[in-house]
Amino acid sequence: MATGSLNSKINIMVVGGGGREHALCWKIAQSEFAGNIYCAPGNGGTAADARITNINLPVTDFAGLTDLAQDKKVDLIVIGPDNPLADGIVDYMEEKGLTVFGPRKEAAKLEWSKAHSKEFMLKHEIPTARFSVVKDFESAHKFVKENDWARVIKADGLALGKGVFVCNNEGEAIDALNAIFKEGRFGDAGSTVVIEEKLLGEELSLLLLIDGKTVMPLSACQDHKRRYDGDKGPNTGGMGAYSPVRLFDKNQSAIETQVIKPIEEALKKGTLDFKGMLFAGILVGVPADTATDASAATEKNESKDQGLTPYVLEFNARFGDPETQALMPRLKSDILPLLWASAKGSLSSEQIEWHDKASVCVVLSAENYPESSSKGKTIEVGNLPADAFVFHAGTQLDGDKLLTNGGRVLALTALGDTIESARENAYKAVKQIKFADMSCRSDIALKEVGQCLST
Ligand code: AMP
Ligand code: GLY
Repeated sequence: MATGSLNSKINIMVVGGGGREHALCWKIAQSEFAGNIYCAPGNGGTAADARITNINLPVTDFAGLTDLAQDKKVDLIVIGPDNPLADGIVDYMEEKGLTVFGPRKEAAKLEWSKAHSKEFMLKHEIPTARFSVVKDFESAHKFVKENDWARVIKADGLALGKGVFVCNNEGEAIDALNAIFKEGRFGDAGSTVVIEEKLLGEELSLLLLIDGKTVMPLSACQDHKRRYDGDKGPNTGGMGAYSPVRLFDKNQSAIETQVIKPIEEALKKGTLDFKGMLFAGILVGVPADTATDASAATEKNESKDQGLTPYVLEFNARFGDPETQALMPRLKSDILPLLWASAKGSLSSEQIEWHDKASVCVVLSAENYPESSSKGKTIEVGNLPADAFVFHAGTQLDGDKLLTNGGRVLALTALGDTIESARENAYKAVKQIKFADMSCRSDIALKEVGQCLST
């Protein structure tokens, strides 16, 4: 088995069964170092790919996954989702002698405790919204009444992206506190809340590959979290993404000095012990009470004259979904040496290269997602345009029939020379897919195209 840098084939197991994991397996399968590839539990897409073997074990079965990895002589395990990381899958597997890509439980706390993550940002002077951590309804209620900037309420723990309430007034903020403390809607995740000031601006996702010492930023992405066109409707796991992002280019130096550098210094000083993927959700903008309205921040953002701050809204301790589906087709480098180096602490001798192309990823979901999912509907895939890729999320293979099996069903990613042509290709690809209750947003990357056309 290879040690420092990879120099021979290795066997890999990817843990998870969503679009992110299919995209990772797809990219790993192209590696010159890929031996056997397993995906647990995988989905219809990984099942249909002859290079990948699905393992019918849930991500919660640490003992089963570990036994299987040992049995199949797996050299590297790549953890996709947040829950097993928060429950200590990396600690468990490493203690059994396995090599794992991903952070240990204490490091993943940057994702599973918003309060911890905010304290980390405060301590390391990473810009983040003003906040207070509160542990009971009465104190939280008093805080919201006394501070008219306190309009964003977040349940502390993992809540499937649903524990964040961005409120317009005091009444809505108090309703959110009721939902968290009185109704107990988020269980243990809601025993503590973070109360924040509201920010206005534009968001981007920045993924940072880390090996304990070195930080390697990936190309920036933008996610579309709301369910419907025009950023309307409930928050979802993500309805589409694109990369690269001009918002990043315009603010690159501020992001490097105010976000990336403090993380590098924390690693150097030993106040952060992290390996795996650290995903920063960044909002470039201003506090709401310093902007007259939402367009003020956006307008400023479009001007050449910056002066906006890159606020970190949250950290995740893993690859993003659907960011990964947008990024993998753009990644020119072999991914395995990078994942391996992150797990082994040898990232400083690696480099990352990107294709000079833009990508747009459109998620096809069930009509009623996120309230409900689609099950057992036949999926037909027609002739896809060149440079378009289908990543599966909620699908299953029944013999040779592909069926729906989840809320987010497929993610279609297309490349193009410009974001505009990538977008056109992605929507051409969408027209080639059919299932009974299929739905998608029609405006993925539209704002970015607007910006590109206008300059
Ligand atoms: P989070 O899970 O913390 O990233 O929050 C989910 C979404 O809520 C973000 O992508 C933002 O759109 C929004 N959000 C979170 N925090 C704030 C904030 N302080 N001000 C405005 N919007 C926010
Ligand atoms: N796309 C946001 C996330 O993966 O959390």
